[in-house]
Amino acid sequence: MPRATAASPTPEVADAVRCLRAGGLVAFPTETVYGLGANARDPRAVARIFAAKGRPADHPLIVHVAEAAQIRDWAAEVPALAWQLAEAFWPGPLTLILRRRPEVPDAVTGGLDTVALRVPAHPLAQALLSAFGDGVAAPSANRYGRVSPTCAAHVHEELGTAVDRLLDGGPCAVGIESTIVDLSQGSLRLLRPGAVTAAQLADALGQPLDASTSAPATRAPGSDASHYAPAARVLLASTDTAEALVRQRLAQGERVGLLASAAPPGLPETVHCLTLPESDDGQARELYARLREADHRDLTTVVAVLPPATGLGLALADRLRRAAGLGQSFDAPPDSSALELSDGP
Ligand code: TXA
Ligand code: MG
Repeated sequence: MPRATAASPTPEVADAVRCLRAGGLVAFPTETVYGLGANARDPRAVARIFAAKGRPADHPLIVHVAEAAQIRDWAAEVPALAWQLAEAFWPGPLTLILRRRPEVPDAVTGGLDTVALRVPAHPLAQALLSAFGDGVAAPSANRYGRVSPTCAAHVHEELGTAVDRLLDGGPCAVGIESTIVDLSQGSLRLLRPGAVTAAQLADALGQPLDASTSAPATRAPGSDASHYAPAARVLLASTDTAEALVRQRLAQGERVGLLASAAPPGLPETVHCLTLPESDDGQARELYARLREADHRDLTTVVAVLPPATGLGLALADRLRRAAGLGQSFDAPPDSSALELSDGP
């Protein structure tokens, strides 16, 4: 296979770049989930993203760039904290919210005075972004409120012909969306837990995150109570309560799935096991595929066993709570709730 570099993109990448320049929509893999991309400088192209997703137009998008130096093209102020985090985690599953430059289209920022920026690590995303040479605005490539796609077939299932080009980079290695931190207020606030954990952030910054402040309140589509949701009703359980809940729902005539890494012994055969790996990174990788499987099997209820809300488990619990229509999980343990870090004097 030809190697994709900025100097010599593969024909497929070169074609996708032409499509972006012409105002088209290109779905592409990132290490987290697939994105639905458009030229972030072109408000008409960006408007097509919202139309394809059925997403409210005032919800802001993440601008993806090939390398950290490009954030100067989008952010008016880049605090030292941002460079520190970029150095530690980019390319990778971290999104930074910074104050925006005035020329960033409102279509991208939802009219906010900030912009979300990310340098994804997936080689095909890197090839696309470096050949394009500028920012690509991209939300997850699913219909609004639905489960994010973690392989090309999911994108096709979600958006079909609304996508002009679909770059297939195989299954996503991380499987859940990036961690989002807001640096626009002079301190660090965790807006969305993701693959980069609070402990990793604190480690990179050399100081603990301060959990003393209240829950994040930024209006964001990812903060909607019902998000990342399959058609089935999702009920949250612990290892101890799952079996009773499953039996109760079966008795009510529901088609029930159990989303867990291990099924309790003696579970009725009529239960559909949506089995997840043991490790938390394995669970992140497969979570959305299992939720999709629930829909393919026409399940009416999914009983999901919540992982401990620490480390990557915090992001997993967050997505499960949203799938259950319960909104954010920031009422979880104090050391993982709203996290703040001063940017220093
Ligand atoms: O992993 C990811 O982040 C994926 C891949 C494709 O990069 N993208 C993704 O995009 O999850 P989306 O649009 O599904 O979620 C982005 C989140 C939304 O909750 C959005 O509101 C928030 O980022 N966001 C974007 N710009 C923002 C801003 N200026 N202030 C606060 N939140 C913002
Ligand atoms: Mg999304």
